[in-house]
Amino acid sequence: MLRLLKNFLHLFTGKPEYIHKPGDYKTIDLIFNRRTCRSFTDEEISPDELYTILEAGRFAPSTVNLQTWSFITFTKEEWQNRFERPIPFKGSNAIVVCADTYRLKDVLVEFKETPVINFSFAIFNAGLAAMNMTIAAEALGIKSIMLSETGKTGLLDYAWLKDTLNLPDGVLPLTTLVLGKEGTRMPGIPPRQPRAAVVMRTTYDHRAGTQLQDWFEQMFIGFKMTHPMSSFAKQIDMYKTKMTDAEKAIAQQFSRKGKQ
Ligand SMILES: Cc1cc2nc3c(=O)[nH]c(=O)nc-3n(C[C@H](O)[C@H](O)[C@H](O)COP(=O)(O)O)c2cc1C
Repeated sequence: MLRLLKNFLHLFTGKPEYIHKPGDYKTIDLIFNRRTCRSFTDEEISPDELYTILEAGRFAPSTVNLQTWSFITFTKEEWQNRFERPIPFKGSNAIVVCADTYRLKDVLVEFKETPVINFSFAIFNAGLAAMNMTIAAEALGIKSIMLSETGKTGLLDYAWLKDTLNLPDGVLPLTTLVLGKEGTRMPGIPPRQPRAAVVMRTTYDHRAGTQLQDWFEQMFIGFKMTHPMSSFAKQIDMYKTKMTDAEKAIAQQFSRKGKQ
């Protein structure tokens, strides 16, 4: 019971630990205070703000500077027309961030034989670009959420997005970055795994996994607080089904490649 209470309280106290003082470094404050936003106001972000955010993506670092990403942008109206529903959480703009090994296929023929490595690099690079855009948005006072499931917006709806966005083989829609001005912020912070479980010194620490019971209980409590009517087990099942479908659809394109 005491453990349950401790884990409940942790949801409100498990903040990043400052070594320097808050306010000493603006960028550290910005990174520590960033939270995923699930409630946007009606206020739209300006084209200039969107432009700057996309530039932050374009200037992200990437393996061998290959820039293996594509950003497909949407206003509210464009999203409504293409997806036949509003942007999730009523965001102002959305960017589908793709890992893209297609655009360079004719330039880098030498790498044709290593699709898994190419994709791994592309996924990593596109993730960096997405994070650069998120941080640029924060600096402009714009909040965001990256989506992979909610509203058919990412990798878990791969087959549907491939068709809807006319994606060629070699382009994986990793996530949709939804942007807008913040409405109400939920209290609490999604629990982080303990520092001792993730930060390892000189070699891999195989005991790290045993330190996660509290974190898992915190995740469960957090889910119950935000989705009181839903079942955690059903949610996991839903993910499993969607992940299996996406896995099959993506694997198909690797086997198509093998046959070419
Ligand atoms: C690639 C990616 C996909 C995500 N997909 C979803 C999603 O589909 N729905 C959702 O509500 N949150 C989604 N999230 C937000 C995470 O749940 C959130 O980042 C995590 O709980 C940590 O919270 P914080 O971002 O406020 O620190 C996603 C985050 C990332 C990075």
